[in-house]
Amino acid sequence: MTSRLSIAVVGGTGAAGRAVVQEAVSRGHVARVLSRHAPDDAARVPGTTHHRVDLLGDDGAGVAGDALDTALAGVDVVVDTTNGQSPTAMKVLTVGASRLATAARRAGVGRVVVLSIANADQADYGYYRAKVEQERLLAGAGAATTVVRATQFHEFLELFLGHGGRLGRWARLGVLPVPRGARFQPIALVDVARALVDAAEGHAPAGGVPGPGPDATTVTIGGPEILDARDMARAWRAAHGSRRPVVGVPLPGPLGDFFRGGGNLVPDRRWGTVTYREWLTS
Ligand SMILES: NC(=O)c1ccc[n+]([C@@H]2O[C@H](COP(=O)([O-])OP(=O)(O)OC[C@H]3O[C@@H](n4cnc5c(N)ncnc54)[C@H](OP(=O)(O)O)[C@@H]3O)[C@@H](O)[C@H]2O)c1
Repeated sequence: MTSRLSIAVVGGTGAAGRAVVQEAVSRGHVARVLSRHAPDDAARVPGTTHHRVDLLGDDGAGVAGDALDTALAGVDVVVDTTNGQSPTAMKVLTVGASRLATAARRAGVGRVVVLSIANADQADYGYYRAKVEQERLLAGAGAATTVVRATQFHEFLELFLGHGGRLGRWARLGVLPVPRGARFQPIALVDVARALVDAAEGHAPAGGVPGPGPDATTVTIGGPEILDARDMARAWRAAHGSRRPVVGVPLPGPLGDFFRGGGNLVPDRRWGTVTYREWLTS
């Protein structure tokens, strides 16, 4: 049986982070949630404490650093589930990860777990490059590190179907746009959280490979099935009672190339258990 750990989940108010906090608490661990904004009462996981930390605080190692040191004092494990999409916010994956690694080292944290993306190093895409940099920086925190690279979450297709995201102009025409020629192997956040907390406890899913640091392991996890984006959209449409037609449109740029080439798929790493349809109906 694993002893009770103190786990700091950085980005613990986000989609993945909150699932990690819930999983950690359900296993009897003590979870600290670190993010810029405190969760409201409805989103707060009972039994957790929140520490207001901005990894990009513009005062260098000032306020952000002091708050970080307080938040990490006495912590056994740091789990990084932060995220940022715009060029400025994305710096949380690089500048922020560097600060987090320094603070984790200062606090003598024993283990670091990083949530990353399956095959992130195989796409020439700025966001993915930042993820690989985040992995590398945190593996330099002087702690045993596990990078957990997951395939796209079940929520990912919402980016296109919910409001169009990068295909927004198609959504405004009243269709459900999906990236043409793409397939996904989506995974449920509960499965991702299970893997991250397993890693926090020191028994990550099997099949890890060494790197990206001297005491680091990278393990890749995927969802239980590989689905054509169009089939996912049809299932989404049925679950949402929508009648909008599904239209495959080209996703431009290197991310489109990556998806069309199947770079996001890890058929031999089916680790999650919850299927897309099960998730849609749950
Ligand atoms: N979406 C996918 O399909 C997928 C697949 C595999 C891996 N991933 C990875 O999973 C990770 C988590 O994604 P997510 O969708 O759960 O993200 P999310 O919902 O956007 O949550 C991001 C979290 O980071 C915090 N944060 C952002 N900037 C911060 C800063 N400067 N200082 C401190 N905290 C900050 C946010 O809280 P505040 O805003 O309050 O600070 C929030 O708690 C990402 O790194 C992503 O690459 C995603």
